[in-house]
Amino acid sequence: MTRTMSVPGGGSEARKRTTFDLVAMKARGEKIVAITAYDALFASLVDAAGVDLILVGDSLASVLCGEETTLSATVEQMTYHGRIVTRGASRAFVVVDMPFLSYQVSRAEAVRNAGNILKRTGAGAVKLEGGFEVVDAVRAIVRAGIPVMGHLGFTPQSVHALGGHRIQGKDEEAAARLVEEAVALEEAGVFSIVLELMPTAAARRVTEAVSVPTVGIGAGPDCDGQVLVLHDMLGLNEGFSARFLKRYAELGKATREAVARYAEEVRAGSYPADEHGYESSGDAG
Ligand code: KIV
Repeated sequence: MTRTMSVPGGGSEARKRTTFDLVAMKARGEKIVAITAYDALFASLVDAAGVDLILVGDSLASVLCGEETTLSATVEQMTYHGRIVTRGASRAFVVVDMPFLSYQVSRAEAVRNAGNILKRTGAGAVKLEGGFEVVDAVRAIVRAGIPVMGHLGFTPQSVHALGGHRIQGKDEEAAARLVEEAVALEEAGVFSIVLELMPTAAARRVTEAVSVPTVGIGAGPDCDGQVLVLHDMLGLNEGFSARFLKRYAELGKATREAVARYAEEVRAGSYPADEHGYESSGDAG
């Protein structure tokens, strides 16, 4: 039996978003809605819900694979998940995270990895983490014709160097540095910058300093857009909570309850019932 995905309201006729659309949204003062997805099914659902940007985050290492950090994500993993996400996204712009060590070693490696991710996934851009230290890599990747999203503030691939999940840009010097790094990333050609885990005031300063859109997560209400990890906001990743996170559903609880009911019915012999069986003359369906 074949299984095809069917999403009510999916397959929107609206054309695919581009980096130009996202930059123009900032100029018009329209908020950018971004969310993560790691597979075709969730990508088609969030696409049908009308998000502007889907991020195939290397957070998949912790959310899907149960790792403590994102450091174990590989180019192969990001390519596989990027490919299946683009199959589900008809309208949203898809960005794939470059994993740890895929862009830090040399500019040539950064360009090759970014190019391969784009070629093999069909995504529209890559994202990489860091400030001044990645500006050369960003410039080289952009020169190769590959759109790049930056990521400043708390950068999960540097979790050990940063001493854990700590708010960045808290004092004047650190906030000023974030602004300078954002300006340097814009100058190197990024089309947008994720701002993670920083005071609202620091995110506002960065947002005002650049003409490309900022997309916040734990960075307050004044960014040009917002991104959340889908599994967190759906309440699927029940182990994660943070002040910035708003849960829009409790799907972890709903899943546990549904599976417990299923187990109960199978054990009681009430599922499958007669109506779930086939006639010898019937078709599958
Ligand atoms: O990997 C990820 O999901 C991210 C978001 C948290 C921005 O980088």
